[in-house]
Amino acid sequence: MSAATGPDDPLELLPKVDLHCHVEGTMRPATVVELAAKNGVELPTSDLSELYRYTSLDSFLEVFWLVQSLLADRDDWARLGYEAAVDSAAHGLVYGEFFFTPARHLEAGQFLADIVAGLDEGLATAEQETGAQVRLIADFDRAHGPDAALALASQLIDLRHAGSTGMDRIVGVGMDSTEAGVNPAHYVAAYELADRAGLRRTAHQGETTQAWTIEAALDVLGCERIDHGLSVLDDLDLTRRMAADGIPLTVCPTSNVLIANHVELLADHPYAEMRDAGLMATLNTDDPALTQLDLGAEYRAVRDAFGYEFADMVAIAGDGIDATWLDDDEKRRLHTRLREAAHELQPDR
Ligand code: ADE
Ligand code: ZN
Repeated sequence: MSAATGPDDPLELLPKVDLHCHVEGTMRPATVVELAAKNGVELPTSDLSELYRYTSLDSFLEVFWLVQSLLADRDDWARLGYEAAVDSAAHGLVYGEFFFTPARHLEAGQFLADIVAGLDEGLATAEQETGAQVRLIADFDRAHGPDAALALASQLIDLRHAGSTGMDRIVGVGMDSTEAGVNPAHYVAAYELADRAGLRRTAHQGETTQAWTIEAALDVLGCERIDHGLSVLDDLDLTRRMAADGIPLTVCPTSNVLIANHVELLADHPYAEMRDAGLMATLNTDDPALTQLDLGAEYRAVRDAFGYEFADMVAIAGDGIDATWLDDDEKRRLHTRLREAAHELQPDR
């Protein structure tokens, strides 16, 4: 294996996808400070590294919601979208399906049309500059309940029918935020509505809750992917089923150490066990700027923690492509790009 690290590491240049990245969680520290000043939000500390320490998912969500509250208008969303894509592309992202979770902004009186148009504007500029492509997944926020989720699904569909700017960038719906004590089945109406409109479906499950919630997301909500999904391994039948059916899990190992506090060390994370069980466990960043992470660093960290070879990491990147919601031609093109780049970058040639 190559001894190179950082920008010289072949994994940095390897073309990669990220299917579990919250656009709000990509906000640069400088942008946090500038938007706080612009929008009159007082930060609890000027030392963000002090703020970005979490003892549980709930303690993380307090910080995530604070960062979200800094986004006040369309220009802020455009800036966020632009910086998210540029920063990810700098570490090898070629394609992303990024979450945005607008519940609290809508509650505060922002318009979904402005949020989406802003994100679209920023992402489109970044795409032109970098060649990377980013689509969006509209996430329901479980902290706001099933009625807000249904209202969001309905607004998404109305705006789509109206041809509102940027709506064609939204490929699916998901669900995030607090997991504990929430039965995913309660969100079935929102998911059914989204499905009828042709939107794809995923959900954060099994980050801090048991395997039955993953099963409910699959069987009741019709999810085609599961975000995190760590607890799948507690249920052998479910593990076998998800492996046999090739249902992707968008796993974020570093996040699970730093945010959910699932394990203390990356080497203790069940990622390798998931892959060994035949699960399509892809590799993603979650909230990179809030965990001092990037996609290249996540690939390197996982390689080093589990002793993976370059070929293993290429296979993981390939699973990421298969797990996207791109059509078959687009997937083929990305696979070709990955294969050619892997040949060039192969450390032991
Ligand atoms: N929102 C942002 N990151 C999240 C995570 N890891 N889990 C649940 N909700 C989130
Ligand atoms: Zn997440």
